[in-house]
Formats: sequence, C-alpha cells, structure tokens
Amino acid sequence: MRNLFSILIFASLAFIACNNAQQNKQQEQNSDTTKSESMETPSTKAFQQNIDAKQTNLYVLKNKNIEAAITNYGARVVSLLVPDKNGKKTDVVVGFDNVNDYTQGGDTYFGAIVGRYGNRIAKGKFKLDGKGYTLATNNGANHLHGGNKGFSREVWDAQQLNDTTLQLTYVSKDGEEGYPGNFTSKVIYTLTSNEGLKIDYEATTDKKTVVNLTNHSYFNLNGQGSGTILNHLMMINADKYTPVDSTLIPTGKLEPVKNTPFDFRSPTAIGARINDTSNIQLKYGKGYDHNFVLNKTNGGLSKAAEVLGDQSDILMNVYTDQPGIQFYTGNFMDGSHTIKGGKKDDHRTAFCLETQHYPDSPNHLQFPSTTLEPGKVYKTTTLYEFSVKK
Ligand code: GLA
Repeated sequence: MRNLFSILIFASLAFIACNNAQQNKQQEQNSDTTKSESMETPSTKAFQQNIDAKQTNLYVLKNKNIEAAITNYGARVVSLLVPDKNGKKTDVVVGFDNVNDYTQGGDTYFGAIVGRYGNRIAKGKFKLDGKGYTLATNNGANHLHGGNKGFSREVWDAQQLNDTTLQLTYVSKDGEEGYPGNFTSKVIYTLTSNEGLKIDYEATTDKKTVVNLTNHSYFNLNGQGSGTILNHLMMINADKYTPVDSTLIPTGKLEPVKNTPFDFRSPTAIGARINDTSNIQLKYGKGYDHNFVLNKTNGGLSKAAEVLGDQSDILMNVYTDQPGIQFYTGNFMDGSHTIKGGKKDDHRTAFCLETQHYPDSPNHLQFPSTTLEPGKVYKTTTLYEFSVKK
C-alpha cells in the first residue's frame, strides 16, 4: 500500500514536472516568436557616428499608422512600420540595426537613394554635345548606381521639417565619379495622411549632365527577414519592358510582355515563372532584374505597381511620374549579411521596385532623355502607399 502510494506520488510529481517543462518550453517558444515578430524602429544611438567628418543620425517620421526611420548616411530608409491584417506593426523594408553595418554593407544598396545615375551605364561611357565622359566602372565593365561610392555612401545634410517630413541634400562635385557639373540634389521624404511614404526629388546642375535618382528599398510585405517573397502577388502596369544583354544593359528595344514571364499586368505570384530558365532574359538577370516601361495615364503620378504580401495581407501601391520601374527580386541576396533583428538577407527574401528612367538612357537616344541642363530643375515624385487587403 505504502509502495503504491509512493509510486502514485512519484508519478504525479513526474507528470507535473514534465508538464511544467513543456509549459516552459512553450513559453520560451512563444517569447521567441514574439521577439522575432515584434518589429521596432532601430535605436537612434546606433546611427550616430562621424563619417567623412560629418554627423550621421537616424530620423524618425511618424503619423497615425505608419512610422519610418531614415538615416542621412546614403539618405536610406532604414525601417518602415505599417500595420498588417491584425494591426501588428510590420517592418516592410530590409535594413541594418546600425550605421556601421551600412558602411560595410557591400553592394546591397539597402534603402538608399542611388545616383547621380541610378542603374547601369554601359562601360561607364556616354557623350553630351559630342564630348565623351568616362565614369567609374563598378559592375563588371559597367557603371552602376552612381559608381564606387555613389550617393548611397555619402553623408547627406538632413533637416527634419516636422513629424512627417525629412529633407536631405547632397552636393556632388564637378567630376565626382566622372560626372560633369556641380550637382545639387534634394530628397524630401514625407509620410502622407493616406499611409504613404512619398519621395520628392529635385536637382540642379551648373554644367550639362545626366541624372536618374531613385530609391533602392528592398521590400518584404510579410516583414523583413520573414522568408521568401516568391508568393507575393505582383502587378506591374507595363505592356513593355526593356530586354537586356548578358551584362544587364538594355538592347535598346522595347519588347511586349505579352506571352512572356514579364507579363505582370494582372496580379501574379513573383515566383510563378521566375525559374523559367528557357527564358534568356531571366537567365541574364538570375531572376527579374529588369526595367519595365510604364503605361502612363496622365502627366502626373500614375499607378506603376501593386503588391500583396501573401501572409500579412499588406498591400503596397506604387505611384510615380517616372517612365520606368526596375523590378529586382533579390537575386544577389545570399544570406551573407545580418539584417535587423539578427535575421539574414537570404536569397530572394525581398524585392525592389525602383522608379526611374530606363537604364543606359544616355546611350539610347530613343529612350526618354536623362539630360539635365543648367538653369533647369529636375523634379520627380514617387509614392509608396500601404493598406490592408479588403
Ligand atoms: C539593382 C541592380 C541589380 C543589383 C542590385 C543590388 O537593382 O539592377 O542588378 O545590382 O541593384 O544588388
């Protein structure tokens, strides 16, 4: 009897212990998920540095529902918190937790303003009024995103105008990266009342030059670091695109997207056709890394793209006055960088929609012009607007 009693006690104790252990494990797992799911604006302190004898910082813009953190190092969007279908704040852009990681971030261009000429210029060469210019070649034989340093690794002057507006300016010297003219660029980030992040660009020059400014944010609408973007649904308002050669320089032709993996005119999973290796263009790009020729409805802002996060139901609408958009599917992401919250920048876990003029326009006179003359003002606007699918 006594034995049976002890056995019973022992069994109940063992059961309780086991249960507790299981509960603890469950709690640990829960708190792990909460940790990985809780998305916050990085600490401002981690962005306060002296780089190139200039002060870097992190500026936080807030309105009712969205919050953006932007650093003046490369005028980069570091985080962008928007509510998902459950109202949970979700950070939809890839970035680093601190400015040092951006300085060592290789050629990722996370969140950056790229320029003076975003995208590629063949062999880094172009002519203006018959005079040849040679730019830095930093992408094989080609010039990419403004050269060795470009605007994405410069410290911009920043002025926070109010809770929702940040103005950044950068003056690029005559001859910098090979470009002619002292060039003053101004970028204004504004959070709109419509849950949007608006980017206004303005530039002037004192010598004829070329310009193509864009933002290089990497989006994952399920939350940065939360896995593949291949199930996001993508719509791009383009009947044509600019096919490229093996070095991603446009051939000069505009090709119809119809009956190709480039037809995103109705919402299609990004991954539905991405591995179609019989398509030479996807082979060259290692996925999508192409400029789409936007269908224009008027002279102002028109809808360029609409993307849905398959898990978050976060919907992003992109509006722009630019003639093109580069759709890049993170084909060079390889998990070699630790991004915010200890996550990795794994292959194709983010995509870019860079509103722009077509790549290599200075060498294709049939493309819309990217020349800026002294006395003229380059002005363009792009708006990324967020909502939850109804
Ligand atoms: C752009 C280019 C890509 C790649 C990324 C950055 O989007 O088109 O080829 O260089 O920038 O990795």
